Amino acid sequence: MGLTEWVRRDQQPAEAPEPVTEVAPTAEPVAAIEDPLTEQTPVESPVVVPEPQPEAIPVAKVSEPAPPSVPERDPPAMDWDALRAQVARCTACALHETRTQTVFGVGQTQADLMLVGEGPGEQEDLRGEPFVGAAGQLLDRMLAAIGHSRQSTVYIANVVKCRPPGNRKPHAVEADACRGYLEAQIALVRPKLIVALGQVAATGLLGEDAPVGRLRRGSHVHGPSGTPVIVTYHPAYYLRQPLEKRKGWDDLKRIRARLAEPA
Ligand code: URA
Ligand code: SF4
Repeated sequence: MGLTEWVRRDQQPAEAPEPVTEVAPTAEPVAAIEDPLTEQTPVESPVVVPEPQPEAIPVAKVSEPAPPSVPERDPPAMDWDALRAQVARCTACALHETRTQTVFGVGQTQADLMLVGEGPGEQEDLRGEPFVGAAGQLLDRMLAAIGHSRQSTVYIANVVKCRPPGNRKPHAVEADACRGYLEAQIALVRPKLIVALGQVAATGLLGEDAPVGRLRRGSHVHGPSGTPVIVTYHPAYYLRQPLEKRKGWDDLKRIRARLAEPA
């Protein structure tokens, strides 16, 4: 227990004035929570920690630049029930601390068309379903315009399954921590076409950080599954920029045409 104090004090002098330059620390607390150093008032066993292990001492110096951002955990389950349960209890990134509940995905699990958004907003966090707020209602109307719906022909999921506080964009470490679940969902649905809704979804699926305005003109493939990807604006964008809806309609027609192509 003396050791705990010693290490902690040694880490503190770096009260760095720099604000939020690194995101890496967000990934750390997960390991810290599981740290068994929390002492339980030594009861009787006299043999507890006779001497500090030689390797334990240098730990105070952070010699490596960034630890792996994705904490170790079980690989994503490959059946729907197990995957859903695994996501529901996931604590692999800091977003679990502020969520009301996880937002797994919704729709037809054998759909030809899979839509991928960014992450739950306030309404989604409260209701546990993706795209149920204003943007989601617009999305439903857009889908209906080409004869699709979440009830019958589409599967919808997000890059991150927990709401980023204040609806900020998910950090890269959070998207990375959650990626395995999205990959598993894609592998289970086996859609004919994936539509990335907005930049975060496009980056999450393609690893490309280009603006949607450029990506929507290209043709893309989701690497792990080989599924074609169309990138389009996030429906929230059309709520802010109604004059851009024309582009959304053009993209919907491309989606419809792509789905009509023989496999
Ligand atoms: N925006 C998203 O990207 N996903 C949702 O589920 C809701 C809003
Ligand atoms: Fe787990 Fe994803 Fe939620 Fe992070 S966002 S806690 S990785 S389910």
